[in-house]
Amino acid sequence: MKKIIRVWDLPVRLFHWLLVICIVVSFATVKIGGNAMDFHARAGYCVLVLIIFRICWGLIGSHHARFINFVPSPKGLLAYVSGKTKAGLGHNPLGALSVLALIASVSLQAVTGLFANDDISFEGPFAKHVSNRVVELLTSIHHFNEKVLIILIVLHLCAILYYQKFKGENLIKPMLLGDKEIDPSEEAKYLPADLGHASKDGGLQRGLALLLLSLIAVILGYFITA
Ligand code: HEM
Ligand code: HEM
Repeated sequence: MKKIIRVWDLPVRLFHWLLVICIVVSFATVKIGGNAMDFHARAGYCVLVLIIFRICWGLIGSHHARFINFVPSPKGLLAYVSGKTKAGLGHNPLGALSVLALIASVSLQAVTGLFANDDISFEGPFAKHVSNRVVELLTSIHHFNEKVLIILIVLHLCAILYYQKFKGENLIKPMLLGDKEIDPSEEAKYLPADLGHASKDGGLQRGLALLLLSLIAVILGYFITA
């Protein structure tokens, strides 16, 4: 019988799919321009709230959400790449690097946006607090990082497709529904300790996540509207 293990708790799944929606909205609204820039900013604020939430959840969240349980040491990464260690149930060491790069690039995009200026009629809420030189610099980083972010997203999608096509592993279903189904014949592929380690995903964890997310939204909203 297949072992069913909760890997991605609801907060991580909601974080992921809301992030995807907000980033698509950010890209779409900037292409439309004009009044849609208001929505560009709002989608960007939501991205910022989500990212700050994910960083906190990476410290206090469930087992597989925690950075300490998936960010590899250089030694661990080498051992994984050379095939000397097995994969965990959560992000594998290479996947972890791509997750960190995505989080870093998305964060940089959202933070620089707060200071960016389109030279016409729209600027981020913090642009008026810094000099023109700083606004110019952060706006050009906002432009440059757009390309970096697109490359990282394409790599992310290629990696997921690669796992599906060549390794027969569907990573999308667990990111949608939370669970991984492990066939007894596949158990040897995974770290034994991980097979006994599900992510806690009960009412208490979900309530805590909602509280944390709301708190971050209120604090950020305060600074943006102040
Ligand atoms: C805007 C585009 C996207 C961004 C910025 C993005 C970002 C991320 C991030 C940050 C994670 C880590 C999740 C966490 O631990 O909290 C992740 C994981 C994941 N994403 Fe995305 N994602 C994007 C689009 C997509 C799409 C379109 C799909 C599905 C077709 C997808 C499927 C997945 C899957 C399956 C994982 C888990 C990978 C694993 O098992 O290690 N992502 N993504
Ligand atoms: C992760 C979230 C964000 C993404 C993905 C994003 C993406 C982009 C992209 C692709 C552009 C077009 C750059 C170009 O023309 O080549 C842009 C421009 C701009 N963004 Fe964002 N952005 C985000 C967050 C924000 C935030 C939070 C704000 C401010 C509240 C903001 C303010 C601006 C401004 C003012 C411009 C115009 C810059 C110019 O035309 O020179 N962005 N953004």
